[in-house]
Parts: sequence; structure tokens; C-alpha cells
Amino acid sequence: MSPFRITRTLPEDAMAAALRADVQEGLTADPKSLPPKWFYDAHGSELFERITELPEYYPTRAEREILAGRAADIAAALPARTLVELGSGSSEKTRYLIGALTELDTYVPVDVSDSALTQAGQALVAERPQLRVHALIADFTAPLTLPEAPGPRLLAFLGGTIGNLLPAQRAEFLAGVRALLSPGDALLLGTDLVKDEEVLVRAYDDAAGVTAAFNKNVLNVVNRELGADFDPAAFDHVALWDAAQEWIEMRLRSRVAQTVKVPALDLAVDFAAGEELRTEVSAKFRREGVERELAAAGLHLTRWWTDSARRFALSLSMAR
Ligand SMILES: C[S@@+](CC[C@H](N)C(=O)[O-])C[C@H]1O[C@@H](n2cnc3c(N)ncnc32)[C@H](O)[C@@H]1O
Repeated sequence: MSPFRITRTLPEDAMAAALRADVQEGLTADPKSLPPKWFYDAHGSELFERITELPEYYPTRAEREILAGRAADIAAALPARTLVELGSGSSEKTRYLIGALTELDTYVPVDVSDSALTQAGQALVAERPQLRVHALIADFTAPLTLPEAPGPRLLAFLGGTIGNLLPAQRAEFLAGVRALLSPGDALLLGTDLVKDEEVLVRAYDDAAGVTAAFNKNVLNVVNRELGADFDPAAFDHVALWDAAQEWIEMRLRSRVAQTVKVPALDLAVDFAAGEELRTEVSAKFRREGVERELAAAGLHLTRWWTDSARRFALSLSMAR
């Protein structure tokens, strides 16, 4: 079996420092917010996998349909020897790409969740003994150094995760992606598309309450890592569509007036009854906007595929 390597480019103390900085900044801001990357401890990653199976959560099924139908076209357009995947999670849908890329030598999954990377990496090397898997525990919003591996390189960013970045963060992120690619390399980007508000809101507010548990998990992370005393039951899960920004927002709404202590930061945070803490945006896209944002980063969109119900798109863009 080929060795599975996992490299921590984010030392644990740097992760802890980043969490402290984000919590300090986000809980003292008005309105309050926390970045979505802190959902994904081992429990959060498990909850996300359950979300992908919910009847209301169409993005995973839609993107899987496209990958199942188009992986061979993608491989023909770019017979990559190295596949890098940002925010790879379980790497479940990625298997279509790995199966189609006949020249593939190295797979580099990149994620903040070491539990997701370890599980996915171990399963992949067992399934594909010839494939080198070099996982990176890293934050994709920070500059990345990739391991030495042969080109051409295909960089995949699936799941619509790009929508979790705010517009200015997206521009910076895409410029960073471009810097990781050489001319002839490509980006494969999954983007969820603008659609009916009811369908969108239900995808983020499922009947079984799994998304609510996922949303509240960020409070458990802050409690465990920073000794805070958030009571998740004192907050309601909120998902709403912002038509002007064309994004879903997930928030946690305080049910009562309360003060939450965060001892590691020597912080006491007051919440008014009904006050909301924003935990995630999930932007939805149109083709023109995706193409424009990619072009601004020096990436030329050459292919655009949607699922049969036109809910989700995968695009292939070349670095020039
Ligand atoms: C919405 S999930 C998508 C997972 C998978 N790509 C899919 O399509 O099902 C987002 C993934 O990105 C990871 N993630 C979120 N923010 C990150 C960051 N700033 N740096 C690295 N990984 C991040 C999470 O741990 C999670 O695995």
C-alpha cells in the first residue's frame, strides 16, 4: 500500500491562536459573527456528512450527478498528474475524479479537519494502492505551500464551499489559487446556483434539525477550546435568504438576554434577547458572476456543467 502522509502546516498552537483571535474579534463586533471554519471539529465534520444525506440538502447530490457524468470529460480536458483539493472533507465525490484521472500520481487533500483528512486518506490509500496521498492540515484562506508533485495540476474546490467566503475574501482566495497554478493547470470549482428561496432555506433548515445541531456545534467548540459557558439550548438556529446579496445566512439567535463568559479571553459577552450571531454565509451564484470573478483572478472559464435540474454548477478554468 502507498504511504499516506499527513502534514500539519497549521501547528496546533497556531490553530488555537487563530480561534482566540476570531472569537475575540467576532464576539466583540456589532453585529456579532464567527467564521464557519470553526464548525468542523470531529463532531462538526460528522454532522456535515449527515447533512449531505438529508432530503433537503440538494447540493451534494447535484454535484455528485455532475461529477458522475462528467469526470471523463474533466480528465480529458486536463489529464492531471496531481489533484489538489481544498476543503476536501470526506473526499467522497472526489472518487469520481480520481477514478477518471488515469495519469494521476498524487492526491493532496487540504482541510482544517484532521479527523476528516485522516479517515478519508486512510480509506483512499486502501482503495488505490498506487496513489500517493499527501494530506495537508491547513487553512485555505491563508497562503499555502503544496508538496512537490508532478504537473499538470488540477485544483478542485467542491461542495459550493467558495460561497462561504465574503466577496472580498473570494477575490483574495482566487488570486491565491491562481498563484498555486502554472499555465496549463486548471481549477475545478463547484458553485451552488441562485434558485427558489424556499428550496434554499429548507436546505439550511432541515426538518430533522441536523443543520441546527451543526450550527450550534460552533458554540461547543468555543466552550471546549476556550472554556466558554455557551448554553446551545439558549440559542435558536436561523437560516434566511438575503435576496440583495444572493446568499443564505446562518445565524444563532439568543432566546433570552444573557451574558456568556469566555475565560481564556477574559471576556464577558452580552447578548440581548433576540440578538443574532452570524455563523455562515453561503453565497449562490450565476454563471456571469462566476466567470467574472475567475477572470479577475487570471483564470479563464472553459467549461460549465450543471446537474439536470440546474441547481448546481461545476466549472473548469484554465490558468494562463
Ligand atoms: C461545506 S464542507 C464541503 C466538504 C466537501 N468538499 C464536499 O463537497 O462535501 C467544507 C469543508 O471545508 C473545510 N474547511 C472549511 N473552512 C476551511 C478553511 N478555512 N481551510 C481549510 N478547510 C476548511 C471543512 O472542514 C469541510 O471539510
